[in-house]
Amino acid sequence: MIMMSGFREDYHRYYWAPFTQMGDLAEEEPLVIVSGDGATVQNDAGDTFIDAHGGLWLVNAGFGRREIMDAAAEQMYRLSWFPSFEGMCNDAALNLARRLIDMTAAEGMSRVFFSSGGSEANEAALKMARQYWRLQGYPGKYKIISRSQAYHGVSMGALSATGIAANRRQFEPLVPGFRHISPPYCYRCPYGLDENSCDLNCAKELERSIQFEGPDTVAAFIAEPVMGAGGVLIPPDGYWQEIQRICRRYDVLLIADEVITGFGRTGEMFGVRHWAVEPDIMTFAKALTSGYHPLGATLAREEIFSVTLGEHGDNREFQHGTTFAGHPVACAAADANLNIIEGEELVQQARDKGNYLLEKLGELQDLPVVGDVNGLGLMARLEIVRDADTREAFPDDEQVGLQVSRELLRRGIILRPIGDILTFSPPLVIDHSQIDDMVRIIGDILQDLR
Ligand SMILES: Cc1ncc(COP(=O)(O)O)c(C=O)c1O
Repeated sequence: MIMMSGFREDYHRYYWAPFTQMGDLAEEEPLVIVSGDGATVQNDAGDTFIDAHGGLWLVNAGFGRREIMDAAAEQMYRLSWFPSFEGMCNDAALNLARRLIDMTAAEGMSRVFFSSGGSEANEAALKMARQYWRLQGYPGKYKIISRSQAYHGVSMGALSATGIAANRRQFEPLVPGFRHISPPYCYRCPYGLDENSCDLNCAKELERSIQFEGPDTVAAFIAEPVMGAGGVLIPPDGYWQEIQRICRRYDVLLIADEVITGFGRTGEMFGVRHWAVEPDIMTFAKALTSGYHPLGATLAREEIFSVTLGEHGDNREFQHGTTFAGHPVACAAADANLNIIEGEELVQQARDKGNYLLEKLGELQDLPVVGDVNGLGLMARLEIVRDADTREAFPDDEQVGLQVSRELLRRGIILRPIGDILTFSPPLVIDHSQIDDMVRIIGDILQDLR
């Protein structure tokens, strides 16, 4: 039975929420979600909301999918958990590993290493890259390059790769050997260049950075195919080809962080497919289970795995792992979730509905406060500006994005702003009428914004 009262007090008395200024919320009601269905969720007061953000970019199959619940429950009845260390494993993890390798054949992946989320998946990827070079006799090839505004997680390695200053500052000094280059933010180009004549300067910065550091010191470049928490930054044509060329030229491993973009979000099964990128390592979490159970996965090419082979006691094995790696309930949930994503053609749906969403958001572009509108599949952005002609932003202290999202919540839409950028990542099962409602309400609010 759902408790309808007492949550507010519990929240303020006992709870410590992630990424939340608890002091600021002291006078406010927390949004306590108690159930979900398709692209909507309900709070404890019985109000229904369209979840424009898919929770945190991830409920691709939608809420309330019995197939996933049943698969997880059946697995739990049969085997609730068992360790994966030192020669033990479980059948659900093996089944999912085979499936993931089949799905990533085009990218050339050959081994799956499981964990419990995106930070852990990236932490494993970064360690794999360092160990790969060390085992081949290059212990000095350890540096990792990523991008400002990137989000790769919160554990110390993943955080060191993350390029969002506010997330990093309180925890410095971070892990040595991490560098950042500029992001492909075409609407506000870090170089002040125009997309049509920039000559992909931001991609070429990778080459300059590798040359500056020394190619024999750089282990890997890690990047999201489309940057999410950095504000939904879709790279320009040619960007990924250039990145791939540079990584190959300097023997730098390419790690594709597909934690948001994996499993249909962008209208391809994986984000890298838009540009035929062939990464050395891919990381997944979030939509791998659509949120029905925590799970992360790090996939690697055979060469990266095979250098770890040896004999017992030689210490070449990947000295890394977490208790819940390959959790059978998570793997069973993931398998049922992938059945839905493939069986209901949610990748194609993301493409079609994404086009529809962009078309609708495009209709708002006549409003003076609507700057950039862009998207790929069902991952989109609308950047609110004070003046669309000059691209002048609202002052930070006006917190316009936050005010808009609060008003949206009052009108039944859960949407996560990043600064003044409204970001969209709804369940892929959202329907056209829900997109219509969402965009109409956003339009009404932005109309009144000065
Ligand atoms: C691209 C990307 N990588 C990694 C992570 C970290 O995942 P988790 O929060 O599951 O640790 C996130 C989380 O939003 C993400 O967006």
